[in-house]
Amino acid sequence: MNHSYQDVLAILGIEGAHPGGFELTKQLLENEKIDPTSIILDAGCGTGQTSSYLAKTFLCKVSALDNHPEMVKHAKKRFQKANLSIDLYNSSIEKLPFDNNSFDFIIAESTTAFTDIQKSLQEFYRVLKLEGTLLSIDMTAETSLDPALKKRNHELL
Ligand SMILES: C[S@@+](CC[C@H](N)C(=O)[O-])C[C@H]1O[C@@H](n2cnc3c(N)ncnc32)[C@H](O)[C@@H]1O
Repeated sequence: MNHSYQDVLAILGIEGAHPGGFELTKQLLENEKIDPTSIILDAGCGTGQTSSYLAKTFLCKVSALDNHPEMVKHAKKRFQKANLSIDLYNSSIEKLPFDNNSFDFIIAESTTAFTDIQKSLQEFYRVLKLEGTLLSIDMTAETSLDPALKKRNHELL
């Protein structure tokens, strides 16, 4: 049976699975003006660690979304255990189940790179409010990758 990188993260319930880990998340959020009136989407929430931190720390309204059913189960368990009222969606970033201009912030940690980036960015733009902010943590390549290497890496994922 073949498992993707994301299946393995989901099966093991790995949290903070992004460059810089949860420490970088906290530093990034410290610099933003987030308060209880803020409406935030955690896009590709994984186990829900960041969503949970946002709701507990800033008392803001959080929506968490992931397209991997196992990750959604982990997040649901976490939110229930902490008695947090976070709206959880099993859905794709490429087709977000939200109205236009819904969010003050979107945080996407090591998620966008796994999707059709063009579609995801269009969706982020659509559901963010006019003055909204996208907080994105992702690995990027500074130079073009050799197509053969890129294909090999993709197959390993
Ligand atoms: C590397 S993990 C990061 C999870 C979490 N953001 C964190 O930092 O721990 C990537 C996450 O993106 C989710 N994901 C990948 N493609 C997605 C898509 N099209 N829509 C929603 N979530 C997606 C995966 O299921 C996985 O939970």
